[in-house]
Amino acid sequence: MAIEKIMVIGAGQMGTGIAQVCAQAGYLCVIHDITVEQVERGISSIEKNLLRQVSKGKLSEQEKATIVNRISASTNLEDSVECQLIIEAAVENMEVKKSIFRQLSELTKEGTILATNTSSLPITELASVTSCPEKVIGMHFMNPVPVMRLVEIIRGLATSVETYEAIKEITLKLGKVPVEVNDFPGFISNRILMPMINEAIFALYEGVATKEAIDEIMKLGMNHPMGPLTLADFIGLDTCLYIMETLHDGFGDDKYRPCPLLRKYVNAGWLGKKTGKGFYLYE
Ligand code: NAI
Repeated sequence: MAIEKIMVIGAGQMGTGIAQVCAQAGYLCVIHDITVEQVERGISSIEKNLLRQVSKGKLSEQEKATIVNRISASTNLEDSVECQLIIEAAVENMEVKKSIFRQLSELTKEGTILATNTSSLPITELASVTSCPEKVIGMHFMNPVPVMRLVEIIRGLATSVETYEAIKEITLKLGKVPVEVNDFPGFISNRILMPMINEAIFALYEGVATKEAIDEIMKLGMNHPMGPLTLADFIGLDTCLYIMETLHDGFGDDKYRPCPLLRKYVNAGWLGKKTGKGFYLYE
C-alpha cells in the first residue's frame, strides 16, 4: 500500500516533531490527541518551529505555508481509516498504548502499518492486542525529532519483512538513518542511556555532587552535548521513570531500579522542561 497520509497519535513533544518531519517530507499528516486544546498546542508549536527556520533563511514563507497546509487536526481515532501509516507517540504507558492499538486494529484498513514511537515497551506485547501483529513495528525517533538523525527500528516477533522494509524506506525519505534492533526492553538506545541518567540522579540523591557539577563533569569530561540531568529534563522525568520501570520489570535486575528521587519529582509533577520545572527551572 503506497503511503500518502500518516496519522501521528499524541501531540506532545515527540508527536509534533514527527508530524513536522513527515509534513516537511511531503506526506499529508493528521495529528491526533485527546483534546482539541492539546492538538492546537501541538500544531502551534510546529508553526513556531517552522517560523524559526524561516527566520534563519532555511525555509521560505511559501514553503512554511505548504508544510502547515499538509497538517490537519483530529480528536477522533476513526480518522485513522484514511491513513496508510499510523505512528503512535502517546504517553509511555503500556495500558494506554494497548487501548490505542486495540482500537486501531478495528478501525484501520487492512494493510495499514501500525508503528509506535515507544522508548522501551515491548513491540511484541503491543502487537498481541491487534489482529495484524505482522503490521506492528517500533519506529523510535530521537528528541528533538527535526534535528536528530537516528530512527531505531524495532521488529516484534511477528513483524513482517514487508512492514520492516516499508518503514525503512519511509525513514530514509524523512532524511533519517534507520538502524534495526531486536525487541528487548529499552531496545539499544534507552537500555544504555537511561541507566546512565538514573545513575546521575542517584549521585545527586546521595549528595556526591551538585546537579550543576554532575552535568558539567559529563559534558566536559565525556564530551556529551548536555549533562544527564539536563537531558532527563528534556526527555521528561515521567518518561524516564516509565523507561526505568520497563527495564526493571523486563530484566528483573535491580541494577535498573529507578532512583527514589526520580519517583519523587514525578509524583510532585516536576516533569522537566515540559512543565517548567525538573532538575532545573525553565521559562
Ligand atoms: P508528552 O508527554 O510530551 O506527550 C504525550 C502526548 O500524548 C500528550 O499530548 C497526551 O495528551 C497524549 N496522549 C496521552 N494519552 C493519549 C491517548 N489515549 N490518545 C491520544 N493521545 C494521548 O510525551 P513525549 O515526550 O512526546 O513522548 C511520547 C512517546 O514518545 C512516549 O512513548 C515516549 O516514551 C516516546 N519518546 C520520547 C522521547 C523523549 O525524549 N521525550 C524520545 C523518544 C521517544
